[in-house]
Formats: sequence, structure tokens, C-alpha cells
Amino acid sequence: MAVIAGTTLVMGARGSVGKHVLHELIARGVPVRASARRPEPGQFPEDVDVYAADLTDPASLGPAFDGVEQVFLYANHQGVEDVVETARSAGVRRIVLMSSGSVIHPSSKGNPITEEHREVEEAFAAAADLTVVPIRPLVLATNTLGWAYPIKASGVVPLYRPDALTAPIHERDIAAVTVAALTGDDATTGMLTGPARMSQRDQVATIGAALGRELAVTALTRADALAHFSRFMPAEEAGAVISFLDDAAAENSPATGAVEQILGRPALPFGTWAADHATDFA
Ligand SMILES: NC(=O)c1ccc[n+]([C@@H]2O[C@H](COP(=O)([O-])OP(=O)(O)OC[C@H]3O[C@@H](n4cnc5c(N)ncnc54)[C@H](OP(=O)(O)O)[C@@H]3O)[C@@H](O)[C@H]2O)c1
Repeated sequence: MAVIAGTTLVMGARGSVGKHVLHELIARGVPVRASARRPEPGQFPEDVDVYAADLTDPASLGPAFDGVEQVFLYANHQGVEDVVETARSAGVRRIVLMSSGSVIHPSSKGNPITEEHREVEEAFAAAADLTVVPIRPLVLATNTLGWAYPIKASGVVPLYRPDALTAPIHERDIAAVTVAALTGDDATTGMLTGPARMSQRDQVATIGAALGRELAVTALTRADALAHFSRFMPAEEAGAVISFLDDAAAENSPATGAVEQILGRPALPFGTWAADHATDFA
């Protein structure tokens, strides 16, 4: 166990994972400060010092990093070398990095999203006086929030590879592992997943059960899926998501025991996530 003293900065403290990290650290009495790119009053707990800090704008990072022992931050490929340098010069000792399980997932090698996360991990790892602890979830349950619009509009969810099996992880579990890393546990770098694999089709049904509604699924061809995802993300990213789903359809997306090993309790099931988020789909 590393001995952690001093203040922790939680960047992206309004993010799905970041907000749970911030609240849990406060509950534990850890000295914290929070940042967002454009913070607004009322978005953070009272008594927390809040900074405006953007990972692509090194000048904004200095004040937020100054006097901080460790930082939780999201992997952001653009300008990472400047982030590393700013952290080092401010005297930051430890970075707990929201990375991706794909970095240690053999069949994800070469996927552009994987490689961007790997490059960010490597940029921090190369800085001699900075320790980086990557947090590596494989498939976020929050991805399914992308189904909210069709669920609300028609109850019919268009899916590429509806029978692909994944083990989506609850953001509260990612945050709990992150807090373990921020409070001194160094054995938090395994591939994090939910407790069991479930087809995308069954994930839709589980959300339907949480809503008390029967939902339907329609299968997208590869070309239609590319067009569909490209409406919400750059084309290269859309292609990368399709590759992840092809890989999952080939039975290559595992459920691991890493969350239970780290936290000493089982990972939260997808049904819990769906119940926690029912209002997002209603
Ligand atoms: N989708 C998957 O299945 C998957 C799998 C493995 C890993 N991941 C990782 O998980 C991340 C998503 O986590 P999440 O659900 O917690 O995300 P989220 O709710 O979208 O929050 C992302 C946070 O990142 C912050 N952020 C974005 N750009 C920033 C910048 N330039 N400078 C500073 N902060 C910035 C945002 O802060 P603001 O408040 O300033 O907007 C926001 O709070 C992905 O980015 C990816 O790296 C995803």
C-alpha cells in the first residue's frame, strides 16, 4: 500500500465516474478539490474548492495542480505530454487515470480507441517522478444510455450484433476501485467488468424490466450501424466501436473477478444499474 497524504484533485468531477469518486472521498474525510472545464455554481458539494481546468489547456492546469499530491483524471489523448509536464512541475506525485481495460485485452490491440488510452498510460508512466495507476474498465454500463432515445420514442432499440455478450460495469464499481487506488491500494489495475456476461438483447430486456415495459430489438447491418454511430461520434471512433462489438460477438469480451478481488464484494449486476438509471429511460 502506498501512503497517501495531502490533497487529491478530482478532475471531471461531474462525470459519471468522477462524481461518485468525489462524493466517496468526501465521505471518507480525504482532503479534496474538484475541477471541471466550465464549472458552474451549485454543481458541486459545498465546502469543496472548485477549479476550472481543461486537459487540453495547460495554462488552466497549473492552479488546479498546485499543492496537490494526487490527481484523478480522464484519459485524454490530445496534449497529454503537456499535462504530464505540468503535473510534474507542480509536484504532483500520483495520477489515478481513468483508462480502459482494452489496453490489457489481447484482441483489442490495434483498435484506435485502445491505442489512444495506451498512449496516455505510457506518457504518464514515462515520467520518472510520477506514479500512474490506470483504472481499466472494459465495457461501461453507461454505454446503454445511448438506447434512451429509441426506448422513449418507440420501445424498439436498433442494435448492431444484438447477441454479442459483454459484462457491463456499473460506474459506482469503477468509482469504488478508483477510490481504493486514491487511498493507497496499488493492486487496482486489472481489467474491470460487471459480474457476468449478458447479450445486448438481454441488456435491453433488463432495462425494460426496470421500466415495467416490454422492449423490442431490431438488428442493424454493419453499414447501417456505421452510419448510426457516425451520427454521434467521429467516423474513426464509430468504426472502433463496431470492432469492439465484432470482438464481443466472437465471445472475446470476458467477465473478470477483478472488482470482487479489489473490493471484497461482488461487482454490481446490470439489473442494479438498470434500476438505478430507470428514470434516464422513462
Ligand atoms: N465506453 C466504454 O465502454 C469505455 C470503456 C473503457 C473505458 N472508457 C473510458 O471511460 C470514460 C468515460 O467515463 P464516464 O462515463 O465517467 O464519462 P463522462 O460521464 O462522459 O465524464 C467524462 C468527464 O471527462 C471530463 N473531461 C472531458 N474532456 C476533458 C478535458 N479536456 N479536460 C478535463 N476534463 C475533461 C468531463 O469534464 P467536464 O465536466 O469538464 O465536461 C467529464 O466530467 C471514457 O472517456 C473512456 O476513457 C469507456
